[in-house]
Amino acid sequence: MSRKQEETARVAGQEQLAEGIFSLLLETSLADSARPGQFVNLYCGDRSRLLPRPISICEAGDGRLRLVYRTVGEGTREFAALRPGDEVRILGCLGNGYDLEAAAGRHVVVTGGGLGVPPMLFTARLLWERMERHDALAPAGLTVVPGYRDRQTVFLDREFEGYGRVLYASDDGSIGTKGTVTDVIRAQTDDAEVIYACGPLPMLRSLAGFAEEKRGAGLNITCYVSLEERMACGIGTCLGCVVKTTEVDAHSRVHNARICTEGPVFDSRQIVW
Ligand SMILES: Cc1cc2nc3c(=O)[nH]c(=O)nc-3n(C[C@H](O)[C@H](O)[C@H](O)COP(=O)(O)OP(=O)(O)OC[C@H]3O[C@@H](n4cnc5c(N)ncnc54)[C@H](O)[C@@H]3O)c2cc1C
Ligand code: FES
Repeated sequence: MSRKQEETARVAGQEQLAEGIFSLLLETSLADSARPGQFVNLYCGDRSRLLPRPISICEAGDGRLRLVYRTVGEGTREFAALRPGDEVRILGCLGNGYDLEAAAGRHVVVTGGGLGVPPMLFTARLLWERMERHDALAPAGLTVVPGYRDRQTVFLDREFEGYGRVLYASDDGSIGTKGTVTDVIRAQTDDAEVIYACGPLPMLRSLAGFAEEKRGAGLNITCYVSLEERMACGIGTCLGCVVKTTEVDAHSRVHNARICTEGPVFDSRQIVW
């Protein structure tokens, strides 16, 4: 069971993976309840930046969380300066995470685009471990499809090796197949029955369309998308992260869901694209 609490985490390490991309290792008791697809809110030490910064959980276990992030503004630049032994305030684990039970006995594709790749490492590892253990909830097969702009922008690659079949997509073909992750999935994974995805909105929209098309052709396919939109409070109170949904929310009676609490992961059929 995942629990949510605020605590002070200790920095166990930080390394730069590529230009502007950092991997931060935090010692925190939150690590042991983390689920793939969840995120944490990191608070800046500089009190002029009140809002926490949401970052997806890239890996978790043994009392440690790994977060992989790009420096885009003041908050993430401050995180990049953290050194082993420093402390950082953290709220987690937030959001629903992926429904990994849906993978049981089905062919699974785990896919991420750009900064959507990190949470897919934790997702792929847990699914792969279930396959190795012959767990009752294990998928029947696993394909990982990381998508990058080009070879220079790759920051997680070797880590996926050993977690099933790995097929890269890149805009210019400098790594893997030239094209989008949807192109690769369409052309090379005709057995996909469950897709777990995280990445930019156009990528998620295209995967949602692909799944819809397959369902139209009679296939039983489920596509889960993680919507990493802008957030403010991160805990469901400010309504700064609502997304239009196909069904009416039972409480508010409107076609809306809060990404930070009802999400960030949704079945693609729940979203108005
Ligand atoms: C659920 C969730 C999970 C996330 N996971 C990751 C992750 O694993 N790795 C990672 O690098 N980033 C992730 N992000 C994005 C990350 O939260 C932002 O990049 C960060 O908050 C920016 O803070 P900042 O102070 O550095 O920049 P700010 O000064 O707040 O913003 C600088 C620039 O970044 C843009 N920006 C801010 N927030 C976002 C956002 N959510 N998406 C896209 N652009 C944004 C702003 O428009 C602005 O141009 C995630 C966001 C969400 C909502
Ligand atoms: S970020 Fe405040 S309600 Fe989601």
